[in-house]
Amino acid sequence: MIKELLIERSLPELLSFCDGRKVTKENWDERRTEIIDLISGEYGSLPEKPLSISFRTASEEKQFCAGKARLTKTMLTSTLAGGGEFTFPVYSVIPKKQGKLKTFILINFRDSVPDRYLPSEELCDLGYAVHSFCYTDVSSDDADYNNGLAKFYCGEEGNSKRGKIALWAWAAMRVLDFVLTLPETDKENIAVAGHSRLGKTALLAGGLDTRFSAVYSNNSGCSGAALSREKNGERIEDILTGFPYWFKQSYDAFSEKEHTLPFDQHFLLALTAPRKLYIASAALDGWADPVSEFLAAAAASPAYELLGVKGLITNAVLPKENELFHKGNIGYHLRSGTHYLSRYDWNAFAKFIEKA
Ligand code: GCU
Repeated sequence: MIKELLIERSLPELLSFCDGRKVTKENWDERRTEIIDLISGEYGSLPEKPLSISFRTASEEKQFCAGKARLTKTMLTSTLAGGGEFTFPVYSVIPKKQGKLKTFILINFRDSVPDRYLPSEELCDLGYAVHSFCYTDVSSDDADYNNGLAKFYCGEEGNSKRGKIALWAWAAMRVLDFVLTLPETDKENIAVAGHSRLGKTALLAGGLDTRFSAVYSNNSGCSGAALSREKNGERIEDILTGFPYWFKQSYDAFSEKEHTLPFDQHFLLALTAPRKLYIASAALDGWADPVSEFLAAAAASPAYELLGVKGLITNAVLPKENELFHKGNIGYHLRSGTHYLSRYDWNAFAKFIEKA
């Protein structure tokens, strides 16, 4: 059934170059570069790496969560390649524990810690360090290009140059720069996570930056984990009506013309191969379309297999509610309930990360 459903979508071939050549394990890096170029037609390209980056502790709470952890606020200042400096805050909850800590970087909607999408104490009890930042501290979630990082990169050209998702993804990479300098970080175990529009952002950041060992996208839907071809719920024309400034202007050409896209969202997912990727859907989230998210995970799997690991391991039928797909390097679950980043989602993702 999954195979048939995928055939009906008529997806562009993941393992063929645009010129028709076959993709092999040996030339995968070349294909990765081609895919990055293709999807830059959707999100734009990210700002350049900063020339340098510095960190300043702004505040510290030594007895956070009954003394189990430290909570710090750190200001990250990047010296930008095109001139200028850009600063934004990161909030870190570091459990007081011996040894190296597995780490999550959460791109969040708010800067509160804990937050309804950030169960700090529970994650601390599971042994994770969690670093979060609020996306609007990077640039506002609207078409104003004169605030935050946008004023250096979008300016008068607006989103004809690049969209906001790319800016938020760049910021997640800067948090990674910071986290890699901390002595307690387990450098082999750093995941980037986000929900909804920030799940789209996590997929882009984690797909592009191979220093992330895992990527977690929760209910990211349209122009995130879900396939665009034959998608239900939100479609490209809807997202471009509500949020044109998330994307590069060239994406407009595919509104109501999904079949002409030279890629589909499984290309974005495949950029994480062979690292761990987790896609979570919610049963009542028809706008995001769980079936299209699940099928994209299946469609990205051949890239994993090419690189010698399993992608999504599933039988031939669509997932049942609360069934966990944790065996391959692409994990998936369909939580019951609505659009939300819940404890259930965090626990399932942590369980997936734990497995060898
Ligand atoms: C809107 C948008 C979605 C997005 C969501 C969110 O519903 O249409 O694409 O994922 O907001 O970020 O909450």
